[in-house]
Amino acid sequence: MEVLNNIKSVHNLIVKLKKTGKTIGFVPTMGALHQGHISLVEQSLKENDFTLVSVFINPTQFNNSEDLKKYPITIDNDIEILKKHGADAVYFPKVEDIYPNGLTSEHYEFFGLEMQMEGKFRPGHFDGVATVIRRFFEIVQPLNAYFGEKDFQQLRIVQELVKNFHLPIQIVPVAIKREEDGLAMSSRNVRLTESQRKESPIIYQILLQAKEYLKNHSIEETKKFVEEKFKETSFKLEYFEIADEKNLLPAKEKLKDQKLRAFIAVFADEVRLIDNLDLN
Ligand code: PAF
Repeated sequence: MEVLNNIKSVHNLIVKLKKTGKTIGFVPTMGALHQGHISLVEQSLKENDFTLVSVFINPTQFNNSEDLKKYPITIDNDIEILKKHGADAVYFPKVEDIYPNGLTSEHYEFFGLEMQMEGKFRPGHFDGVATVIRRFFEIVQPLNAYFGEKDFQQLRIVQELVKNFHLPIQIVPVAIKREEDGLAMSSRNVRLTESQRKESPIIYQILLQAKEYLKNHSIEETKKFVEEKFKETSFKLEYFEIADEKNLLPAKEKLKDQKLRAFIAVFADEVRLIDNLDLN
């Protein structure tokens, strides 16, 4: 596996791959890799000649500086995991590779997709995500790029980014990977205390219960149900939303043939966890 630390070596590699007609699969990450990331890598390996993984903790997508400071960094372990699973290259960009004109994000609008949920509670987050992803797409020029459904809103935004800018890149969604007890895999999970980790499967359990409850209740009632459920836990509910899967607008009532998804963000003290569930 090639370990690339500067943009020049990535350019050289991409030119070589393109010349020989090799297809490139791209898996962007912020490191602290877990089985969720591996599932993206595995899918890319199946579908492309060459799989390149990036590891970059993107400062502009953090609206909370403490969260950025505490984001886990496990470079050696990440390299070992990627080697073991057969990735072809890993790229650790320098900040200047991604932000040649200084560390600020560009402003993006995606027909309101960026205003809901994560966008509402993490102002500027999706500007940071769109900026870094657009830059990576310029550098790596992949045929396929892989995004986990755990960050479903991010996935939708990247799909729109590609559409708006007519980028010839296929965005491939990959299903959420869960721990055996149901907790959605996330790099932030290692920050949970032992007792928070023990309690954390409740997030997925409440999502499943909400899905059942919604069958015989209204959306408003289901939201109330979830709020009440979280009062019985030590987690603080930031939002629970039932939204249209495509435009991410909060649903007011159940409509026939509409694809709905439940979205949730909770705090375990200062650790923020998100999850979502297909309601169809
Ligand atoms: O999902 C992530 O890990 C990040 O948001 C991404 C896509 C790597 C962009 O920094």
